[in-house]
Amino acid sequence: MLEIANLVVRYGPFLAVDRLSVSVGEGEIVGVVGPNGAGKSSVVKAIGGLVKPREGQIVFGGASLAGLAVHERVRAGISIVPEGRGLFPAMSVEENLMMGGDPLDDRARTAANIERSFAMFPILKERRWQAAGTLSGGQQQMLAISVGLMPDPKLLILDEPSLGLAPIVIGEIGRALRGLRGSGLTVAIFEQNAKLTCSVADRIYILASGVVRHHDAAAALIANPDILDHLV
Ligand SMILES: Nc1ncnc2c1ncn2[C@@H]1O[C@H](COP(=O)(O)OP(=O)(O)OP(=O)(O)O)[C@@H](O)[C@H]1O
Ligand SMILES: [Mg+2]
Repeated sequence: MLEIANLVVRYGPFLAVDRLSVSVGEGEIVGVVGPNGAGKSSVVKAIGGLVKPREGQIVFGGASLAGLAVHERVRAGISIVPEGRGLFPAMSVEENLMMGGDPLDDRARTAANIERSFAMFPILKERRWQAAGTLSGGQQQMLAISVGLMPDPKLLILDEPSLGLAPIVIGEIGRALRGLRGSGLTVAIFEQNAKLTCSVADRIYILASGVVRHHDAAAALIANPDILDHLV
C-alpha cells in the first residue's frame, strides 16, 4: 500500500534521511523505531507533503505522491496524527472531531464516526464539550488518534503517540492501537518507544541517524531485545 524507496530528506546541508526504504502492506501495522533526531518526523512529513524529498519515491496505492498537495494526499486516504497531536486547543473535543471529518463532506457519516470515536475512547464522550487544550496529555492523544480516524483513511500514520505520556497511559494507547488490528486499516507508527511499538506492530524498522539499520518481525525483536540496544 505504501512503498518508500531511497528517500532522501535534507535541511540545507544536513542529511536527515539517507536513502530510506520502507514498505507497508495493506492491512499491516508497521513500526519505525528510532531515537531523538533519527529522522522519523522527517519521513512522516515527506509522506504528508510537508517536506519535499531530495531523492527517492513515495508510492501510495500504486501511484506516486510526488507533486501532490497536502490536501490531495488526505483525499487519497492518508491520515497523519502529527507529533504534538495537532489539535485545535480552544475548540471542544466534538469540534475537533468534526474538523477531522471535514474531508468526508457528509454529515451523517461524520456523526457516525464521532460515535465510533466515543466507543473507542469513552472518556472523550464524557468530555465532548471540553476544550481540547484542557484535556490531559493522554486524553489529547486519544482525541488526536480519533481525529486521524475521522475521515476513514486507508493509511493512518502516527508520529510519536507516546510523547510525554506516563507508562500507564502509554499502555492504554497501545491497547487502543491493538484494537485497530484486523480492522483492515493500514497503520504506520513512528516511535521512540520500542516496547509500545513492538506490542502494536507486525513488523519493525529500526532507524538511526537517518538510516534503516535493521528490519524484522516485531515478535523477533520482542524475543531478542538486545538487537535494539546494539542498533539505536
Ligand atoms: N526544519 C529543519 N531544519 C533543520 N534541521 C532539521 C529540521 N527538521 C529536522 N531537522 C533535523 O533533522 C534531524 C531529524 O529530525 P526529525 O525531527 O525527523 O527526527 P525524529 O526522529 O522525529 O526525532 P524526535 O524523536 O526528537 O521527534 C534532526 O537532527 C533535526 O535536528
Ligand atoms: Mg519526531
